[in-house]
Amino acid sequence: RRLPDDFVPAGLVNMGHYEATRETANAFSRMQADAAARGLSLRVVSAYRSIASQRQLYNRYLERAPAHVVDTYSARPGFSEHHTGRALDLCGASGSFLDFEKSPEAPWVHQNAYKYGFILRYPKGYEHLTGYSDEPWHRTYVGVEVATDMHERGIVTLEEYTVKHVDYKPVEWV
Ligand code: DAL
Ligand code: ZN
Repeated sequence: RRLPDDFVPAGLVNMGHYEATRETANAFSRMQADAAARGLSLRVVSAYRSIASQRQLYNRYLERAPAHVVDTYSARPGFSEHHTGRALDLCGASGSFLDFEKSPEAPWVHQNAYKYGFILRYPKGYEHLTGYSDEPWHRTYVGVEVATDMHERGIVTLEEYTVKHVDYKPVEWV
């Protein structure tokens, strides 16, 4: 879904080197503190990205791969959830976000992120629904209510949740 070119999320707050919406930043702070209490260290390595920074990123990827390949791992400018200020790329204590899955932080985040309102946005095996290859490090803030509902019903992607549980209105049979 495309955002207007001039879209800037309301209420962006500073979270160290990055910005995110206030709700996203607050939810992350709670999750980070609870992880720290278990000896785990969570860092944010990307959050809000303006359309200009998404364009720069996408164009940088285009220098080394054709568009149909880049489209499997990078949103085009105007289409990134990072542009909404609600997406965070996470990294464990060491290494790069690309190694997040191998970090001790990953299993805890996979089990607990929904309690803070975050979903794993691009899960493995759901590429045909999300349009992107899996990104274990990328979490999107959808709020505790939706994240918990998805968790309890076993709905993995926001695409399925939107179609089956938000847009869908049951037919009233007579
Ligand atoms: N890497 C994700 C899909 C993005 O560019 O928003
Ligand atoms: Zn991301």
